[in-house]
Amino acid sequence: MKYDVKNLSLAKKGRLRIEWANEYMKVLELIRMRFRKEKPLKGIKVACCLHVTTETGNLAWTLKEGGADVFICASNPLSTQDDVAASLVKDFKIPTFAVKGEDNKKYYRHINNVLDAEPNITMDDGADLVSIIHKSRKDLAARMLGGTEETTTGVIRLRSMEKSGVLMYPIIAVNDADTKHLFDNRYGTGQSTVDGIIRSTNILLSGSNFVVCGYGWCGRGVAMRARGMGANVIIVEIDPLKALEAVMDGYNVMPLKEACRKGDVFVTLTGNINVIRKEHFKLMKDGVIIANSGHFNVELDIPALEAISKKKRMVREFVDEYTLRDGRRINLLGEGRLINLAAAEGHPASVMDMSFANQALACEYMAKNYKKLDRKVYKVPDFIDKRISKLKLESLGIKIDTLTEEQKIYLESWELGT
Ligand SMILES: NC(=O)c1ccc[n+]([C@@H]2O[C@H](COP(=O)([O-])OP(=O)(O)OC[C@H]3O[C@@H](n4cnc5c(N)ncnc54)[C@H](O)[C@@H]3O)[C@@H](O)[C@H]2O)c1
Repeated sequence: MKYDVKNLSLAKKGRLRIEWANEYMKVLELIRMRFRKEKPLKGIKVACCLHVTTETGNLAWTLKEGGADVFICASNPLSTQDDVAASLVKDFKIPTFAVKGEDNKKYYRHINNVLDAEPNITMDDGADLVSIIHKSRKDLAARMLGGTEETTTGVIRLRSMEKSGVLMYPIIAVNDADTKHLFDNRYGTGQSTVDGIIRSTNILLSGSNFVVCGYGWCGRGVAMRARGMGANVIIVEIDPLKALEAVMDGYNVMPLKEACRKGDVFVTLTGNINVIRKEHFKLMKDGVIIANSGHFNVELDIPALEAISKKKRMVREFVDEYTLRDGRRINLLGEGRLINLAAAEGHPASVMDMSFANQALACEYMAKNYKKLDRKVYKVPDFIDKRISKLKLESLGIKIDTLTEEQKIYLESWELGT
């Protein structure tokens, strides 16, 4: 079996951590038990380009129990948990190609290692597998049944490929399932981004001015948690509706240039490029902290920061201090890569339970229905989304009410009024 991980002797620790995450992933566990019996993915090769975390370990195990041959590489050079990668190889016999801190060359080599398996389904977080297949390995498209996509940025890339007519096989946008983005993006990114900022700096959030760029699902999660820890949260947006929501949610909303003069901590979660740029760095106070939790490391204009700095030094793990020519310092966290995965452990397992239940069921759906699907980006079917919310509630031991017959009729009729 081919693989490339940091050190196989880390496997024992990785296995224990995968088991710990499993305790909080009851929906995925139920799916795994069914997959074990039914083998819906028998004979299918699944290539996964995901953050190699304990939760991904549980997803890979589930796919394997479903009969799939699974191959894994990282979806970000800094997000791999080396102990998990080791356990996937040693304990689960899953070819894994991921080393935390790998350079760009190795990152793409690992993607190609996984594609060398000639997969039938791609499972992406950021559309890198799809993108490489469409750019340089077009020969692989013919054997492809379809793919799934985990994150907002990946879905945006794939929709743009569909629109330009270049998408060569169907994709299910797992991100767009309600049981994914309403929970993973909001509560998962919310908690783990604050966790990453605190672990890398140990700053006190209480009383700080905390600037969140982007009030989408991720941004509102981070804003909510930072406020909960006593920070004065400032929101920066470009969409009037989102900005208005932020105002009504009780936040200060202002343009970034104004926020730059006030902020102590800045975090971007927009999925956009160069959100914080040279003109912004020039306005910031001495000693500020800047971080990104959006998918790619392009939200902070790091080349511009390098260009206006006279000195750069690593002052803590995951903290690079840039000194500008006038002596002011800007602390960049995690090289501008998603800070929740670079400096913390990513989303808690309980929330990834729903995201990865969607991945597993979308993969099964693709295997059964690929002949009916066109070269388009599809939503996760509603019945899957509803089933996951029901199972998650059950796993949490929470019961809800049901409609009476009278209420059902009332809601379906137009004749009845006061
Ligand atoms: N860190 C993680 O683990 C994690 C998890 C899920 C998603 N993501 C990524 O986070 C990013 C955001 O995802 P989302 O689901 O919140 O997307 P979203 O579309 O819900 O929100 C993005 C928001 O950013 C705003 N925006 C765009 N350009 C801006 C700019 N220049 N200045 C200020 N605001 C701007 C948009 O108007 C929108 O409201 C994506 O890249 C996504 O892939 C990261």
